[in-house]
Amino acid sequence: MTDQELFTYAQKACEKAYAPYSRFRVGAALLTKDGKVYTGANIENASYGATVCAERTALFAAVLDGRREFTAIAVAAVQPDGAYASAPPCGICRQALSEFSDGSLRVLYGTPQQLQEASLGSLLPQAFGL
Ligand code: THU
Repeated sequence: MTDQELFTYAQKACEKAYAPYSRFRVGAALLTKDGKVYTGANIENASYGATVCAERTALFAAVLDGRREFTAIAVAAVQPDGAYASAPPCGICRQALSEFSDGSLRVLYGTPQQLQEASLGSLLPQAFGL
């Protein structure tokens, strides 16, 4: 699975976003160690705080399917005007991902033309842990 292919899964997942309030559509594709992809999209709510981000819907789908080992996540975000936004995961999603990955998880984001990469460890240097 190339980074570009994983990002394409995220782009496709974007189409499933339910974002009538922000009109900011996000898709995520999470790659397991054994090569399976789980996708997610943001699902908003009239009670804004009940909204769930794309990264966490993908993560929760994977965990519910028994997966706990991941190597990469790609995030594709489309603005209301249809242009891609460069959107690394929000802080809550970084923390949620850190529950199941160490700092080496590869995070891919950006546009189809220009993918960017950062490690989860660089995005969340001091993850909370009990
Ligand atoms: N959103 C995500 O899906 N992932 C992030 O990492 C940041 C934000 C969603 C939440 C909300 O539906 C919309 O983007 C605007 O914040």
